Amino acid sequence: MADLKIYRASTTAPVNIAVIKYWGKRDPALNLPTNSSLSVTLSQSDLRTHTTASCSPAFDHPDTLLLNNAPQSLSTPRSLACLRSLRALRSGLEDADPSLPKLSTLPLRLASANNFPTAAGLASSAAGFAALVRAIADLYALRQSPTELSLIARQGSGSACRSLLGGYVAWDHGTRADGLDSRARLVAPKAHWPDMRALILVVSAAKKGVSSTAGMQTTVQTSSLFQTRAKEVVPKRMAEMEHAILSKDFETFAKVTMRESNSFHATCLDTDPPIFYLNDVSRAAIKAVEETNDKAGRTIAAYTFDAGPNAVIYYQKADEDAVLKTFLPILRQKEGWGETDTKIDDPGPASPQVVE
Ligand code: ADP
Ligand code: DP6
Ligand code: CO
Repeated sequence: MADLKIYRASTTAPVNIAVIKYWGKRDPALNLPTNSSLSVTLSQSDLRTHTTASCSPAFDHPDTLLLNNAPQSLSTPRSLACLRSLRALRSGLEDADPSLPKLSTLPLRLASANNFPTAAGLASSAAGFAALVRAIADLYALRQSPTELSLIARQGSGSACRSLLGGYVAWDHGTRADGLDSRARLVAPKAHWPDMRALILVVSAAKKGVSSTAGMQTTVQTSSLFQTRAKEVVPKRMAEMEHAILSKDFETFAKVTMRESNSFHATCLDTDPPIFYLNDVSRAAIKAVEETNDKAGRTIAAYTFDAGPNAVIYYQKADEDAVLKTFLPILRQKEGWGETDTKIDDPGPASPQVVE
């Protein structure tokens, strides 16, 4: 009788929000960045992707992906690169142990859901590709470390490499042409700075007009600010930021985060044609943070925006009342503003589940 077993693994991956932004590829085929970046991984209990990967001799080719219940192509070069790398690792295990089922040859069924707006500048590609890689790695019982898997997730979406690790995570640009040194690195675990908090202001859940991939390519081609940012500004800020995190210096963390967000959006504006990710509500959030800090007489909150209008506000637990006091009235006034209060999290090991 034909083997009709279904093998399955499910996992979740959190989003990460960069405080030093990745924007620009030095090698679009391998998805290698021009500059290093650094992010904070948010709580899995908040913004996250849930992905189930299944394979079976009962399934027909080709591989398929359902994203939020809608079919999504897996035949893009970047998705194909992820699937190829994961299958090659599984195939290595199968060669070494012929008693293992030959999962590497079976068609894959992937079902993924984001519990937050997709393609709206809240890092859906980061959580999405991290969950895709983690789910298949679990299905295939791969023994690679999160850092090794980050090399694969990076090929799906650059920012995804950082979502495989929890806490404060750097993505080193690397110098090798094959990209093997362009991967995620733990700067500090979540527990290092337990008082850190992030407030997510959902200004708009709409899909952005210019995807991150397309936007950064145009920036590389046309912006004159871009080279200085990548070569001079970001390397200095990476060092400052790592030091601020290691010494839990919120003032420096906040100042570098805000200047970095503004530098990235200035580069977008300097792109031809210009890219506008921020809107009036985003700018109102910037003003509200400035006012909160002025009122407190010190820097207690920091805003940052990815490639979209939605704000992420970092602050420390002790200042929660002061920060929320500023934002809650604005949130209530502005129709359509959602709000998420989230802690910083560690994805931890996923639990593989094989159904036979
Ligand atoms: P974002 O700011 O949300 O990361 P991007 O433009 O970088 O926006 O990427 C959005 C794209 O990422 C989506 O159009 C989709 O192709 C991919 N993506 C988002 N979520 C998932 C997921 N859960 N699984 C696979 N791919 C995803
Ligand atoms: C502004 O990782 O989404 O969020 O590699 O083309 O998929 P691709 O781009 P993506 O870019 C993220 C850009 C950013 C900054 C960041 O997350 O570092
Ligand atoms: Co993205």
